[in-house]
Amino acid sequence: MWQRDSEEDFNLAVEALKEGKLVAFPTETVYGLGANGLDEVACKNIYLAKGRPSDNPLILHIAEKKALYDLARVVPKKALALAKAFWPGPLTMVLLKKAHIPKAVTGGLDTVAIRLPNSPLALALIKRAGFPLAAPSANKSGKPSPTSASHVAEDFKDEIAGIIDGGTTSVGVESTIVDLSNEPPVILRPGGITKEMIEAVIGPVLMHSGEVGDTTPKAPGMKYRHYAPSMPVYLVGEDDFDALRASLKDKEGIGLVLSEEGLEQFKGLTFQSFSLGKKADTKVALQRLFGHLRKADRLGLKCLYLESYEKEGLGLTFMNRAEKLALGSFKEVEQ
Ligand code: TXA
Ligand code: MG
Repeated sequence: MWQRDSEEDFNLAVEALKEGKLVAFPTETVYGLGANGLDEVACKNIYLAKGRPSDNPLILHIAEKKALYDLARVVPKKALALAKAFWPGPLTMVLLKKAHIPKAVTGGLDTVAIRLPNSPLALALIKRAGFPLAAPSANKSGKPSPTSASHVAEDFKDEIAGIIDGGTTSVGVESTIVDLSNEPPVILRPGGITKEMIEAVIGPVLMHSGEVGDTTPKAPGMKYRHYAPSMPVYLVGEDDFDALRASLKDKEGIGLVLSEEGLEQFKGLTFQSFSLGKKADTKVALQRLFGHLRKADRLGLKCLYLESYEKEGLGLTFMNRAEKLALGSFKEVEQ
């Protein structure tokens, strides 16, 4: 573990990156597993370390807006407007790529995903390395994204050169991804920057349908889980609380991941409780979600119930992750 305020540690991290090794570092969203984004072999090693399918491309992290022109062969006006409004910050833009970008970064696509993170440490690291950092979230494929250095250490040991400890991340979920390689722009993944915020700057954008709403498994148990802890997770709405209380009577190993108001309803019962903060404050719920899932794993809980939020603003981002990691809703299993 490298400390954020040690110059010696920072130099070791830079050296490791220059040698083509993997270094985990904090951003404002989640921890990234970084490598030289212009080095094909280094990028391939990211996939190996994560156990990630090779057709799932990586994001290139830059430290200055002008680096966009080194990586994208077309920079539309809308991209510049979004960069001006939200960079540095939790927004990733997909643009037509320049020829020198390694195949391992783009998964063979004609586009590249680019982000300028709002983390002084990440920016300093990219500047000192002298190349963009390819960095997926620093978790094993399928697990919840890491929001602290200890989460990264749970998933990786000798496969990576080291982890820079920058404390807990502030946003808590991955960046919003907007594809600007076509018109109209499409949000591929909701994140800390909402659709409403983006539309206020560049006008109407589409929401990729695969990313929201559709959680129907093709066959029971066959749904591909993402961001998931080892135990089953079910979604519960406020109107399910009475039925849930009755159904959980005398059960053990249960965790409740609910808003403060939700947890009030289960007061005095012996379930393990994880607060998502006040229901109206979705930002806090996002900050805490992945950390709670990892803690539930460490405690060896058997089953989790996770509260649903309205699908608007940051609530849409919360539900996007919640629906990917849950096996279904409490209502479905009750029937
Ligand atoms: O907040 C974040 O974005 C974090 C931090 C570390 O920056 N990174 C992150 O990376 O979440 P990862 O690899 O877990 O997610 C990257 C997503 C993937 O879903 C991938 O499919 C998409 O970006 N992506 C990358 N390049 C793309 C492209 N050219 N076209 C479409 N999607 C792309
Ligand atoms: Mg990820």
